[in-house]
Amino acid sequence: MIIPRREFITSSLIGATLLSKTSTSRAADLPSAVRRLRVAVMGMGRGLDLARAAVALPSVEIAWLCDIDDARIARAQKALSSSNAKAPKETKDIRVVLEDKEVDAVFVAAPNHWHAPATIMACAAGKHVYVEKPCSHNAWEGEMMVKAARQHQRLVQMGNQRRSWPGVIEAMAQLKAGVIGPVRYARSWYFANRGSIGKGKVIPIPKTVDYDLWQGPAPERPYLDNVVHYNWHWRWHWGNGELGNNGIHALDLVRWGLEVDYPTRVSCTGERYHFDDDQETPDTTVTTFDFGKKGAMWDGSSCHPRPQEASSFVTFYGDGGSLSIDGNGCKVYDTKGKEVSKTTGEGGEKIHIANFFEAIRNGVPLKSEIAEGHKSTLLCHLGNIAWQTQSVVNVNPENGHILNNRDAQKLWKRSYRKGWEPKV
Ligand SMILES: NC(=O)c1ccc[n+]([C@@H]2O[C@H](COP(=O)([O-])OP(=O)(O)OC[C@H]3O[C@@H](n4cnc5c(N)ncnc54)[C@H](O)[C@@H]3O)[C@@H](O)[C@H]2O)c1
Repeated sequence: MIIPRREFITSSLIGATLLSKTSTSRAADLPSAVRRLRVAVMGMGRGLDLARAAVALPSVEIAWLCDIDDARIARAQKALSSSNAKAPKETKDIRVVLEDKEVDAVFVAAPNHWHAPATIMACAAGKHVYVEKPCSHNAWEGEMMVKAARQHQRLVQMGNQRRSWPGVIEAMAQLKAGVIGPVRYARSWYFANRGSIGKGKVIPIPKTVDYDLWQGPAPERPYLDNVVHYNWHWRWHWGNGELGNNGIHALDLVRWGLEVDYPTRVSCTGERYHFDDDQETPDTTVTTFDFGKKGAMWDGSSCHPRPQEASSFVTFYGDGGSLSIDGNGCKVYDTKGKEVSKTTGEGGEKIHIANFFEAIRNGVPLKSEIAEGHKSTLLCHLGNIAWQTQSVVNVNPENGHILNNRDAQKLWKRSYRKGWEPKV
């Protein structure tokens, strides 16, 4: 499974042939392996981490910093001043970046409601895209992203960096080789100690912020003092809750290790038990997935860290033992719970970004091509839909679409601000 052969070929072929088609074809006389890549970064929160990692790789220049908040741009300029070749250009509007023929790739690290619209616009403008997880704000958008990548022959990588970590790749290879026998089930966890976001008040938009562009594709709402930055994660209008925030990292590994694509059935129970505030997404849930003869669950606890439980990130259960992924690698246990082997290796985002650049330059396969990123993100959307509709969601395992559930099907796609609905 991992990357189905058809998509592996698509990804490799795109990588191998794209240099003649990129916006920087005037630089195509340089050997592809050394050609300097010019990168634009959208969203300078997480995007600053990505920029730092990218600029530490050979022959990479951060050409643009794009953020709707002047303060975030200023912070990023300062942080990059000693490592980048020259000061990147600045803009609040991603459309300005997309007009620049010198830009090879765009890193999309704005809030979730921007991921698909920005990716689709960037592909249409001839840019390759590294888009943060979750790749989309809703299921329909994920399908549109895959379509856009294919239509415009662009490379689109999702930012689920564990796909590139050697210790995790080795763990998955061992699973596949049968180190714990036939694998039937996976459990995954996330524990945190998040606080309240309070009750928001409508206030004048801060001078450094362009809220119109922050909203972008999302239907307009008044500016609240507790959404920008970060807390949008916990409001359905912009975010996808903890399942789409940290659940996606774990569930992507679950799908990879179980070698499955789409589920047949999804449930999600739990609530927002902590705080009487503006957060809409649940803080404590158990989400379950059936994949025919295999199954999985994600246990999310955003507001209680459960320190004594020391659960791994993901554990796979096979007839001959179990394999737990934690940190940068895994531990393998026999059926009596005795540790028999382990893997480890480099972590972080740099190695995943390096893979993206290698795909652009030399046509190596992407570690997290958008079709795969979409399938993993879809697990989160289906879990959230099950929770929002308080129903068990039955799914067509051929394409991930929801079966016989009108309320759930209504949440497949969002409504967009006039003029902003992505078109492919
Ligand atoms: N892969 C990972 O491990 C990882 C880690 C952290 C965050 N992320 C992802 O990165 C994304 C951003 O997360 P964050 O924590 O930085 O959120 P944040 O809200 O703190 O930062 C988002 C930034 O994007 C900017 N922004 C908003 N709209 C914009 C627009 N139209 N154009 C340009 N900039 C815009 C905001 O001003 C802000 O600076 C999320 O999707 C999150 O899931 C991934």
